[in-house]
Amino acid sequence: MIHPASLLLTAGFLHLAFSNGVDQLFWVYRMQPLAIMGPDNSGGDCPAECDCPPTFPVAMYCNNRGMIQMPYIPSRMKYIYLQHNLITTVSDEAFKNGTNLVWVMLHENQITNIGKRAFASLLNLDSLYLSGNNLTEVPSNLPNSLRDLRLNHNKIDKVSPNAFEGMENLTTLLLNHNTIKDMGSTLKSLKSLTLLDVSQNQLKNVPGGLPAMLHQLYLGSNSIDAIPGNFFSHFSNMQYVRLSHNALTNKGIPPNTFNVSGLVELDLSFNKLERIPTVSTSLEHLYLQANQIKEFSLSSFCSVVDVLNFSKLKILRLEGNEITHKDVPSDSALCLRLASVIAL
Ligand SMILES: *[C@@H]1O[C@H](CO)[C@@H](O)[C@H](O)[C@H]1NC(C)=O
Ligand SMILES: *[C@@H]1O[C@H](CO)[C@@H](O)[C@H](O)[C@H]1NC(C)=O
Ligand SMILES: *[C@@H]1O[C@H](CO)[C@@H](O)[C@H](O)[C@H]1NC(C)=O
Ligand SMILES: *[C@@H]1O[C@H](CO)[C@@H](O)[C@H](O)[C@H]1NC(C)=O
Ligand SMILES: *[C@@H]1O[C@H](CO)[C@@H](O)[C@H](O)[C@H]1NC(C)=O
Repeated sequence: MIHPASLLLTAGFLHLAFSNGVDQLFWVYRMQPLAIMGPDNSGGDCPAECDCPPTFPVAMYCNNRGMIQMPYIPSRMKYIYLQHNLITTVSDEAFKNGTNLVWVMLHENQITNIGKRAFASLLNLDSLYLSGNNLTEVPSNLPNSLRDLRLNHNKIDKVSPNAFEGMENLTTLLLNHNTIKDMGSTLKSLKSLTLLDVSQNQLKNVPGGLPAMLHQLYLGSNSIDAIPGNFFSHFSNMQYVRLSHNALTNKGIPPNTFNVSGLVELDLSFNKLERIPTVSTSLEHLYLQANQIKEFSLSSFCSVVDVLNFSKLKILRLEGNEITHKDVPSDSALCLRLASVIAL
């Protein structure tokens, strides 16, 4: 979805893209347009507190103005920017005129109340950003047309079983930084989902019914102590898996769980592992720092060490465990010949 405003970028979200490590430019954040200089409302009917530039008459800029209420929305609008305000309520009527809306940016407000049918008539809605509000639940009757739904940094503690039902095109779902204890199988209908972030919640289990198209799965900073058997066998594209800051033990990880080709990055740092789990030779980044690992088992990386078959590992982090350089066997170089960082 490219429109002229997307060419004017600010780095508002970029720090998120880098804060969690490498290779994360897959997080294609939609940047916020630069503030338009001075009000210019010659693009047509426009609420007094917003700007509707004539060069881009289907967009309405109302961000960063201390607004406490939703403005009215002229029906021609496709893109509305309402982020960084003090809006607390989105009523059932708020989007009555908004049947053409494609993007609705409402992040960083104080939204506590959303009418049960507030978004129901937005049949063309592609992206809805509600991050950084005070929501305690996933809004009801969200449009099935959504592709990108951001609900991170709220106070959501429960997700109803049908919260995402019918969203067959949803590819990005951010629920990180909430207080969700259990996801049930609520994600199972999201057959296009490629990025799921449920980090920084209170999950005790890996969510059930995870969609097969997932490419990035972020579950860090929860209380997960085990991975279900054959967990990765039903994903065809999984590449990035983050499980740092959980309660994983070796007992909770069935033997070949991570020995699956396709994985590029696996973050198991800040858990309770005593041994290095077996990983596939195709893995490139493995984070194991701050566990209780007591031995360096080369067989975790290469079951047969020979000149043709070696690990593709580039980064292996092992600091904050119970091993030192002396524990690394001398023939490791054959297997881990690309691993440039082995921090001990
Ligand atoms: C709908 O649009 C009309 C005409 O632009 C406007 O007068 C009215 O206030 C709008 N209603 C809402 C709820 O935005
Ligand atoms: C939203 O949450 C913040 C932080 O917890 C709080 O300061 C604020 O008063 C809340 N706003 C509303 C409208 O509940
Ligand atoms: C999903 O996307 C396809 C292709 O763009 C479209 O035909 C279909 O109507 C969309 N589904 C929903 C529920 O919007
Ligand atoms: C890892 O998986 C490969 C391919 O399926 C298999 O050949 C190898 O024996 C497994 N490694 C271990 C240590 O089980
Ligand atoms: C390397 O060895 C593993 C088992 O350790 C095997 O599954 C894989 O096919 C081998 N790869 C090559 C290129 O020989």
